[in-house]
Amino acid sequence: MSFKISHFSKEKLAELTVFMNTNHGLDNFTAKLLNEKIFDDPDFNTDLTVCSTCNGKLTGFGMAVLRQDGLGFIKLIAVGKDSRERGIGRAIYQVLEERLKIMGCRSIRVYNSNPNYLLPGVDPRYTPALCLFNSLGFRRYGETLNMSVDLKKMKFQTSVNEKKLLKSGVSITRAKLSDGERLISFMQSVFPLWVHEVKKMLSNDIITVFIASKDQEIISFAGYDGNNIGAGWFGPMGTHTAHRGMGIGSLLFRICLKDMKKKYRKAVIPWVEPVCFYSRVSGAEVERLFWLYQKEI
Ligand SMILES: CC(C)(COP(=O)(O)OP(=O)(O)OC[C@H]1O[C@@H](n2cnc3c(N)ncnc32)[C@H](O)[C@@H]1OP(=O)(O)O)[C@@H](O)C(=O)NCCC(=O)NCCS
Repeated sequence: MSFKISHFSKEKLAELTVFMNTNHGLDNFTAKLLNEKIFDDPDFNTDLTVCSTCNGKLTGFGMAVLRQDGLGFIKLIAVGKDSRERGIGRAIYQVLEERLKIMGCRSIRVYNSNPNYLLPGVDPRYTPALCLFNSLGFRRYGETLNMSVDLKKMKFQTSVNEKKLLKSGVSITRAKLSDGERLISFMQSVFPLWVHEVKKMLSNDIITVFIASKDQEIISFAGYDGNNIGAGWFGPMGTHTAHRGMGIGSLLFRICLKDMKKKYRKAVIPWVEPVCFYSRVSGAEVERLFWLYQKEI
């Protein structure tokens, strides 16, 4: 089978949506989600967004990004079921690697392209993908997981704890546009990795980030719909180290889930480290595992 690799253009978004749902089948795609992943990525680059076609029909898609720190990511890759094991996946990867290298990239990871990413790594149930990345010289350097909370089952009583915290001078509110500047400066100094997602939350029609403040200072935040909007993604969240252990984080988390319940049946907590925290506070369960891959080029 002959195939041609070329730039991917926005006019093919509807075709790509069907293609990804058919060929990247453990995940659900909408045109809106793909638009966010591809064209709304802060480092979107047409040279790193390619597709393979045969007689004008999509047979493969691949996207990479180069982040500011010089780390490259394969952000999405899929080949049509009918076109697999014919070298298309390898060819798409090689075009992307070559272009990343010319742009100064020396190290490539797979999928966990914070702050705009679909998945925090490779779900090992995508077995041919594991084989592909092994054969391309990637090494597995770690793993991570997603948890989820069944929101239908949950009752979120938050007012008693909110009152308790208020007595110790801590107030919790949904962030307002007028909080934006000080929230972003809090993020920049305490949680710089998450500035982009919080900016997204502040730009949503109804702001989806909540903050805890004491003496006019922001000390903790939690939000949702900062990434994979429409998929029910919670987080990130974080409390300044000086104010941990007071129940602020768990309350903010539950307030967020309560708000998410108006819109979603399930909340996904992606790329989790404090598994026991989320499990205890909300009954969240581990839902999906991911393997992390890297290659030096
Ligand atoms: C992963 C994927 C993109 C591979 O595409 P492909 O066009 O079939 O891959 P290629 O034909 O270029 O194969 C390249 C190498 O990958 C490995 N490979 C690919 N599919 C394999 C399979 N089913 N079994 C074993 N090895 C496989 C082989 O090492 C192969 O090299 P070789 O043929 O010289 O031995 C494709 O299977 C796919 O779209 N999967 C679903 C989407 C997906 O998993 N995306 C990544 C999510 S993290």
